[in-house]
Amino acid sequence: FTAPAEGPSAAEGIEPAVPLRSKAWWNDPEDDMCGAYVERYLNGGLTMGEITSRKKPIIGIAQTGSDLAPCNSHHVQLAKRVRDGIIAAGGTPIEFPCHPIQETSKRPTASLDRNLAYLSLVEVLYGYPLDGVVLLTGCDKTTPALLMAAATVNIPAIAMNVGPMLNGYLGQRLVGSGTVLWDARAAMAAGKIDQAQMIREVATSAPSLGHCNTMGTASTMNALAEALGMALPGSASIPAVYRERGACAYETGRRIVDLVLHDVKPSDIMTREAFENAIACCTAIGGSTNAPIHLNAIAKHIGVELTCADWERVGYSLPLLVNVQPAGIYLCEEYHRAGGLPAVIAELLEAELLPHPSALTVSGKSIGDNCRGDFPNDPRVIRPVSRPVVTQAGFLNLTGNLFDSAIMKTSVISPAFHEQYLSNPDDPMAFEGPIAVFDGPEDYHHRIETDKNIAAGTILIMRGAGPLGYPGAAEVVNMIPPGRLIKQGIELPCIGDGRQSGTSGSPSILNASPEAAVGGNLAYLKDGDVVRIDLNLRRAEVRLTADELLKRRDEMGAYKMPVNQTPWQELFRKDVGQLSEGMVLQSAVKYQKLAQTQGI
Ligand code: FES
Ligand code: MG
Repeated sequence: FTAPAEGPSAAEGIEPAVPLRSKAWWNDPEDDMCGAYVERYLNGGLTMGEITSRKKPIIGIAQTGSDLAPCNSHHVQLAKRVRDGIIAAGGTPIEFPCHPIQETSKRPTASLDRNLAYLSLVEVLYGYPLDGVVLLTGCDKTTPALLMAAATVNIPAIAMNVGPMLNGYLGQRLVGSGTVLWDARAAMAAGKIDQAQMIREVATSAPSLGHCNTMGTASTMNALAEALGMALPGSASIPAVYRERGACAYETGRRIVDLVLHDVKPSDIMTREAFENAIACCTAIGGSTNAPIHLNAIAKHIGVELTCADWERVGYSLPLLVNVQPAGIYLCEEYHRAGGLPAVIAELLEAELLPHPSALTVSGKSIGDNCRGDFPNDPRVIRPVSRPVVTQAGFLNLTGNLFDSAIMKTSVISPAFHEQYLSNPDDPMAFEGPIAVFDGPEDYHHRIETDKNIAAGTILIMRGAGPLGYPGAAEVVNMIPPGRLIKQGIELPCIGDGRQSGTSGSPSILNASPEAAVGGNLAYLKDGDVVRIDLNLRRAEVRLTADELLKRRDEMGAYKMPVNQTPWQELFRKDVGQLSEGMVLQSAVKYQKLAQTQGI
């Protein structure tokens, strides 16, 4: 991360490109309530000059860190440096809390809260006297939630990540967040370690403040915020506790003031071209299978058409360059030291694989100008395009009579999985087998060790885990086989209407839409049905005719929806769309560019 050169700012008397929105609260000569607005912020300790000056933008700092959200808690400190930067550039900072989202602890699932945090931030950005906002991102759902809200309201915004944790080590072995958990759980199921050892290994992977140190959903979504142009170049990968992180916070604060003064809005940055750049970067970094859900959601709220078919078209044939877990072996400290995203982008640019080098970013320059020449310092960690970790490494978008869309992360297909399922010389890249169907994770845990029909070649199907079925869609599709099969080194393919953790190295077929709970055909499968997957044709089919499926539909009736446990679950279920469509609140999408339509 290199701090941008000092630019002009309000401190030096720049006239805003458009009248500042906040002044409609403070300075409107015709509003007899101005006194009430002003006195309450003076009451907060601000001065008249800080709020009423025509040239002083009011900058919100959307704080996602708290004791309840430890992944992001370092933002409580970093926000002080963001404030310093805002003040140095002539703005007035106003920090406020966001709905907390902690990925691993929130029940039933943190992704239920993404749209809630989105909604509440839309209200804050729309309803208060803010001219711009710094989005303090980090843990998985915080990044998309905040970007979605900035997209809807469309006031100038800049994202800043909290940064990953330092590396975890077990002896000399690198252990990464999440990825170690999946390995340790399999070792426990095979009887190799006990629970106390599993907890020790998992805790070791988290040695400092920060978000997950693998290329899970947190690292992915922050890299993609940078790839979209919404974060300063080189900022996403700085470990949380590095000194550069504080400097980055300061520069982010300075930069948002300039964005407001020049009226650069999210819609100027998050264009169709920017999303295609982000998809390309997602392949090159080995990004999370949650990325299509979140990026498609942000796109919906800014009014850009983006589908899972676009993910395959733009991203599938590109190479994986970043050798970081779960697709590779290193962790985010090495990734940052190797140059982080700008080094990855420099490699793509050199090979002419970045779709739109001229897309604008919050730095004020294009993404190409930000990154050109920033080559990797460590080719073990960020590989050149000529020697990638995997050559065709993006997501495949599968369709068929099981669902309209489901994705598969091809960069994590292991040699063992390839050997077992994809290497038949008469039928390459295709396999078929009998299925075992589970109604949600509880059913899976209940039956996986005892169901004697599950054998090598069985395809595990998880249903009832989509946006409505499990509200928010559970990260449960990456099912581990029974212990007796793990001991023989046997992997089983998984398909499901839920998600899986971005830290998982499983090549599951997931995010299946429509889900069982809204009448997708996964609802009508029975144990022993035969499913065929053909990756060449991008097809997933159950060997049942359309008539047989219709008959099953009549016999089996509507999928049984679990009861709502909270008021939000009920509201969410009434309005939410499917994973392939970003799992957004459907009635929210029509509200676009609110700040521009506000008439103030
Ligand atoms: Fe919060 Fe991974 S659980 S960043
Ligand atoms: Mg997760």
